[in-house]
Amino acid sequence: MKVITYRNYGPPEVLKLEEWEIPTPKKDEIRIKNYNTAVNSGDWRIRKADPKLAKLYFGIFKPKKPVLGLSISGVVEAVGENVTKFKIGDKVFGSAGMQMGAYAEYVCIKESSVITILPKEISFPEGAALPFGSLTALDFLQKCNLQKNQTMIIYGASSSVGTATIQLAKHFGIVVTAVCSKGNFQLVKSLGADFVMDYETFFSESHNKKYDVVFECVGKSSITSNLLHLSEGGVLVLVGASFKEMFQAAWISLTKHINIKFGPIAETLENLNFLTELTKKGIFKVVIDRSFRLETMVEAHRYVEAGHKKGNVVIEITK
Ligand SMILES: NC(=O)c1ccc[n+]([C@@H]2O[C@H](COP(=O)([O-])OP(=O)(O)OC[C@H]3O[C@@H](n4cnc5c(N)ncnc54)[C@H](OP(=O)(O)O)[C@@H]3O)[C@@H](O)[C@H]2O)c1
Repeated sequence: MKVITYRNYGPPEVLKLEEWEIPTPKKDEIRIKNYNTAVNSGDWRIRKADPKLAKLYFGIFKPKKPVLGLSISGVVEAVGENVTKFKIGDKVFGSAGMQMGAYAEYVCIKESSVITILPKEISFPEGAALPFGSLTALDFLQKCNLQKNQTMIIYGASSSVGTATIQLAKHFGIVVTAVCSKGNFQLVKSLGADFVMDYETFFSESHNKKYDVVFECVGKSSITSNLLHLSEGGVLVLVGASFKEMFQAAWISLTKHINIKFGPIAETLENLNFLTELTKKGIFKVVIDRSFRLETMVEAHRYVEAGHKKGNVVIEITK
């Protein structure tokens, strides 16, 4: 099978195409013929060990797991003897989480993973695009204790996390202001944003409105500036906080009693099923920017690392 590996940390060019044996599922695993995966923002950060501290988890001298990729979307092709939840031929999608390994034609994964049946309303590419940003958005929104008609400003609204946050916040009855570049105004409006603002001018404008939730998706604005827009008793969400910002946020929470949410999310099957149901009802639709072939993974990583994708980037794997 075709696999994209990274044997060393570094630029996109460390990604290489290799031929591996097709894996055999263990007793509690299913083998998925993977039709699509995605290149998520976390992938290029792991590839180049950014921040360096990430090496403590992913391997100090070289990557412990040479295959990146969280998102899986394909068909169950073999099942272990103890598997009861899935059968051969099932269309499935979901996330391999920190097990990774989805940049491959076949993936073996525990049946208890964050994997669910792909309904007819979701295409294979959408199945690959959905888990990363949408599970992140939903997990953080659940931590905000949202009430109908509250106001929320979403900074970095055109990102993978942002495009999902807009739609979910609207579903929860929130009045949404989306901050993105002018070129993405139409996109975020189409997803339901009530108001839009240009990120180029956002901080220079005398914008003194305050919001019940300040939802920072892309880690591009400072905590100090975010707090200027937070209502008393409101919640600040820092999806893409750096380690330094996490310490800063923890200190502010402790000393000023401000509710700040940050840190890694918990990907759950319950939330994946919730997003699946919303998609089936036409309430939610994952945004796909463009797709690349598995063989052009280097190009895909360059594109995603540049930081201007709209929503998600999908990888096509030979069917
Ligand atoms: N806490 C967690 O567990 C968790 C989970 C998932 C992701 N994350 C983090 O969340 C962050 C977002 O991930 P993502 O995949 O959603 O990002 P992404 O899709 O790669 O973000 C790209 C988008 O950011 C926009 N952008 C770039 N510069 C901006 C700025 N200065 N102001 C506002 N928007 C700007 C770009 O718009 P333009 O093209 O118009 O510039 C583009 O649409 C990452 O830092 C990721 O590591 C954290």
